[in-house]
Amino acid sequence: MNIKEITSKLIGKTVNAVSNTVAQTEQIHEITQTEVTDDIKECCRRASAQGMVLLKNEAVLPFSSEQTVAVFGRVQVDTFYVGYGSGGEVKAPYKVSFADGLEVCENLLLDNTLLKKYRKWCSSHKPDEGYWGHWPMHYDEMPLTEEDVKNAAKVNDRALFIIGRAAGEDRENTLSKGSFLLTDREEEILRYIAAHFEKYAVILNIGSIMDCSWIEKYNVPCVLIAWQGGMEAGNALADVISGKVSPCGCLTDTIASSYADYPSSGNFGGKKENIYAEDIFVGYRYFETFAPEKVLYPFGHGLSYSDFEMKCTSFYDNDKGIFIRINIKNTGLVAAAKVAQIYCACPQGRLGQPFYKLVDFGKTKILSPGSSEDILFSVDYSAFASFDDSGLSGYRNSYVLEQGTYVFYFGSSVKDIEEAGSIEKPKTTVLESLTECSAPQKSFMRMKAYSVNGKVYKTTEPVPVKEKQLKTEILSALPSSVKMCVGHRYVLDDVKNGKVSEDEFISLLSYDELEALSRGDYVMNSPLGINGNAGVFGGVTDSLREKGIPAVSCTDGPSGIRCASEASLLPNGTSLACTWDVNLVKEIYSYISDEMVQIGTDVLLAPGMNIHRDPLCGRNFEYYSEDPLLTGRIAAAAVSGIQSNGVSACPKHFACNNQETNRTVHDSVVSQRALREIYLKGFEICVKTAKPMNIMTSYNKINSVWGHYNYELVTDILRGEWNYNGNVITDWWMQSSSSPEFPSMHDQAYRVRAGVNILMPGGGRTGKRNPDGTLLDGIDKEGHITTAELQNNARRILEFILRLSKQEEQI
Ligand code: BGC
Repeated sequence: MNIKEITSKLIGKTVNAVSNTVAQTEQIHEITQTEVTDDIKECCRRASAQGMVLLKNEAVLPFSSEQTVAVFGRVQVDTFYVGYGSGGEVKAPYKVSFADGLEVCENLLLDNTLLKKYRKWCSSHKPDEGYWGHWPMHYDEMPLTEEDVKNAAKVNDRALFIIGRAAGEDRENTLSKGSFLLTDREEEILRYIAAHFEKYAVILNIGSIMDCSWIEKYNVPCVLIAWQGGMEAGNALADVISGKVSPCGCLTDTIASSYADYPSSGNFGGKKENIYAEDIFVGYRYFETFAPEKVLYPFGHGLSYSDFEMKCTSFYDNDKGIFIRINIKNTGLVAAAKVAQIYCACPQGRLGQPFYKLVDFGKTKILSPGSSEDILFSVDYSAFASFDDSGLSGYRNSYVLEQGTYVFYFGSSVKDIEEAGSIEKPKTTVLESLTECSAPQKSFMRMKAYSVNGKVYKTTEPVPVKEKQLKTEILSALPSSVKMCVGHRYVLDDVKNGKVSEDEFISLLSYDELEALSRGDYVMNSPLGINGNAGVFGGVTDSLREKGIPAVSCTDGPSGIRCASEASLLPNGTSLACTWDVNLVKEIYSYISDEMVQIGTDVLLAPGMNIHRDPLCGRNFEYYSEDPLLTGRIAAAAVSGIQSNGVSACPKHFACNNQETNRTVHDSVVSQRALREIYLKGFEICVKTAKPMNIMTSYNKINSVWGHYNYELVTDILRGEWNYNGNVITDWWMQSSSSPEFPSMHDQAYRVRAGVNILMPGGGRTGKRNPDGTLLDGIDKEGHITTAELQNNARRILEFILRLSKQEEQI
């Protein structure tokens, strides 16, 4: 470690210690003892097992109880259960390591001498867990000689080699050994195992995909991605290795031959900006269209211990969509579930298209050998429509279906598909006519597909730039004021009970109260909320609480409740998505919502649902997929689960938080088409189907405008087009800026005018304990925020609180 690193580490540790002490001495709430029920334990175990993806299996897995197994790799003991940062850090009541899970499994016979050796070595080489943004990406392996492995092979029939990676917030994975690539020692151990064992499996304990070129290099016979499986990780692995559970998870990302093959790799990690030059060609949309030979394991791939046959038994379309019935039969020897995927190949038209788009998916129940299940897929036209931002189709800023033939496929991965049927569009049709929103402010060349005589080529075209006069639009949409009154003393319950109208209640709020509603309490772990909260909003002042407005606690996050109480630790986001099972995701989050009620937190800052644009993004482990439909459906299931119990979800980060490098200042420069079809689509599906009560903006800029100032994304698209009626909150703190349209408005006024209701936490990064003054400064003067806007802003927060309390009463 150099001097700079040592100093930064010391400062990091001191800051953590000081802020914890300050927060703890102020804390007024008891720590609640959560009851982690057997039901959630069982559900976590099931979800973790079902999210595992069997990439390759040459008759290696499952192991039988007669075969002795040598387990290599220190993460068998020092398992990575989840990633670091706000997407991890849940105080789980217990965590089952891989070693513990495998050891107690009755149907596995482990090499205990080797296991003891690992346990001993790990206990004397405890990994350094680092500190915020400087967590380990891997742990050093226990040294092994070839002789050690050779000797193990003499007394064992099989081997497992478990390789681990961690990732975390506020920094990326790196294209280096120990992060995206194997370390030298890992490669050495793999070489020894490959030389001395015929039957072995590599288990990947990772949060997001890593380089897999070593599979071919060493002709590894079996690879299982176990992800970071939460508190039940070890039991879940034992279930799969022993054959109690047949793997049924499928990849939610493409695994390519090398990092450089990913279309984003040339435009990722920029400190100031990242040009999304690959446009809509993200993940399999790129690989299947332009570089199929670069794919090691395709999107949607995942093997089973059983075999399946899929047949299309009916295909028809009507004005509502396309209907495809698939019969899925277990033709193998063991009980297993199977994911069926539906893809659409659109005509290239003038806009250019990827070869395939995922348009629907479903999963069977666990089918016993010989049994089958029918799934009827109904594919809405919007699932394969294109957003024309250039006007080439003749319909600018509209979702269109260009004229031509649309072919539908079903199958087990994007590469393993059969045709189900096709439909003809004799002429281009408009599905939704919209307006320009959040167009790039500068032009760049984007990737495009075009076809000549049925053959598809790659080209580029200039991206259309912003034309809209935002200022005029904002001014014409400004609300008119309800009046300000004084005198009456109503409480919020009076609105609920119909004693006073919402308008009248709001008219009684003073400017200070309107200001206080537009921001959270000043600090994280606010004394107004549950112990260990991430922030609190609503009744953050005495006068608001006197009006019966409660303080609302927010807690992270995607892998369970991150607070001072114990709570269940879920498998990481990618793992949950790899189940492709919306019912299971809903179920697991409904248990979390029970825990939220017990602990007393109101808003779970989850799900994290940004697109896996690039495999190096440090927070991919929290997010779901490179595909927007899958992302949207899984996120909607998570939201429905969380909100099933009178508490709120908060999908994040809206939008394009696709990298962690300079995450609070970099600019995601992206065409409207890619925004609409890829980066916003998941949010759109989630908002329209699951109706979250809160949404969090992203730290970054999107086409030059920070997420927390983004009128076009928040007011025009989220609220205007998708009818979202919940709150919008910032990601933690925001950047100072004045509005380009109204230069005398800045910071809080600029944010509230954009439609972003609450600054979280309210004191800014410095933890200042008073309003920064930028909201009320100049109110109602020419070019400033208006009283009506502040009242409208307050209305969102109050409506959310009323909704919360109504739902609580119904429980
Ligand atoms: C993260 C959010 C998180 C928030 C509160 C931020 O750093 O980006 O995802 O919810 O902190 O912990």
